Amino acid sequence: MTAGLSFYLKFISKGVIKISEKLWGGRFEKSTDEMINDFQASIEFDKRLYREDIKGSIAHSKMLAKCGIISNDDAEKIIGGLKKIKEQIKAGEFEFKSELEDIHMNIEKALTDEIGDAGGRLHTARSRNDQVALDMHLYVRRQVSEIQDLILSLQKELVTAAEKNISVIMPGYTHLQRAQPILFSHHLLAYFEMLQRDSDRFCGVYDRADIMPLGAGALAGTTLPIDRKFVADELDFDAIYLNSLDAVSDRDYILEFLSAASILMVHLSRFSEEIILWCSREFNFIELDDAHCTGSSMMPQKKNPDVPELIRGKTGRVIGHLMAMLTTVKALPLAYNKDLQEDKEGLFDAIDTVKFSLAVFAQIVAGMKVKAENMRRAVEEDFSNATDLADYLVKKGVPFRQAHEISGKLVHYCIEKNCYLKDLTLDEFKNFCDKFDEDIFEAIKPETCVNNRNSLGGTSIEQVKMQIQSAKEWITQVE
Ligand code: ARG
Repeated sequence: MTAGLSFYLKFISKGVIKISEKLWGGRFEKSTDEMINDFQASIEFDKRLYREDIKGSIAHSKMLAKCGIISNDDAEKIIGGLKKIKEQIKAGEFEFKSELEDIHMNIEKALTDEIGDAGGRLHTARSRNDQVALDMHLYVRRQVSEIQDLILSLQKELVTAAEKNISVIMPGYTHLQRAQPILFSHHLLAYFEMLQRDSDRFCGVYDRADIMPLGAGALAGTTLPIDRKFVADELDFDAIYLNSLDAVSDRDYILEFLSAASILMVHLSRFSEEIILWCSREFNFIELDDAHCTGSSMMPQKKNPDVPELIRGKTGRVIGHLMAMLTTVKALPLAYNKDLQEDKEGLFDAIDTVKFSLAVFAQIVAGMKVKAENMRRAVEEDFSNATDLADYLVKKGVPFRQAHEISGKLVHYCIEKNCYLKDLTLDEFKNFCDKFDEDIFEAIKPETCVNNRNSLGGTSIEQVKMQIQSAKEWITQVE
């Protein structure tokens, strides 16, 4: 059989799933078509929610017993059974079945098989709609904390690299043209700040995920005397959804997660782009560790920055997941619709991508070799001190517009003469303006240019040291 044919045959229905195997089979006469079953089953990807599903079910069964809806004896059996199932899943000994559709029904069925009738009481006063919402809230909360830890590790590497290279001078760019000399450490710390905002944004995501949906039932609440506050306390939630329709159909926290993840990836992607440029022969500002690069199967000389390239590439994927989720939700009527099952694959992939990218990025930063002399040469061999030349004249009383004009003419003169500002004689300077003095040579040295930019947040060594200081304070505060 050709590969093409077998591909299409996969989509031809092969049989049916017996209705007796379904937990919702009562209303049905006919069995489920096997292809339809495979199409709508989510177990392949939502099995990663098993910890949250079990944790939520344990809290729910405790609440049911406390409210007298089930007996303490049944609750104990349920909790024991759930714990056993958790161990089986952890050990890889649990058989996930696609005919049981999702993680919720896989676990519930296994529980009933394990403990008998008591298992059938677990789903009292609950729907899969509020159950899946609870699982996802718990999962997002856990992942946000793990991502924030990874952000912090990368931030620490940035601070270490900034301290190690505190006085290395490089050209700062606008329009990718050399603009003004800056400290390399200042450049690295700009990414610290971006990551700081990312971490902050994830705090917001955490807050919006920290709301307890269980008890909303399928959409309208329940006729049974439940205690939602008890479940919220058991699971350490800060708040409880006050509208059951909202509780089961809210995916804002996932949209916010994907937004925060996209912005974070955009930051990593911009940094990747710079690393890729800096590794090129044309810039030659840094070299990545051999352990973090790959070679070419054809060109023996190549050492390729695949890792930052891949991070740049994967950024599109995460942004895509955000777009997909916005599009999924945008025309959904209240309350639950199966479309919402589509919240998972994109979110899970975004989580994996973000975590992996942060972890490898920290390694890239820790392993990179900084070629300070090449950066220095790039600063020497350009006109990035032209603003300082103008500022020099301003300090001698020349209006800035005029000073700008004089500096521009001097740059033009140098280009004609094929030299740099530092190569001119004092007489040549004086031909353009009589305010120039011997101290002009000191004023246009890269170190002076950098250290004179001592305005708050500027690139002077004093300001950069202050940035490092406040970064370190923040790190010790959150650790
Ligand atoms: N697997 C489903 C999801 O992820 C669980 C909720 C299903 N609810 C339902 N009424 N079919 O959204």
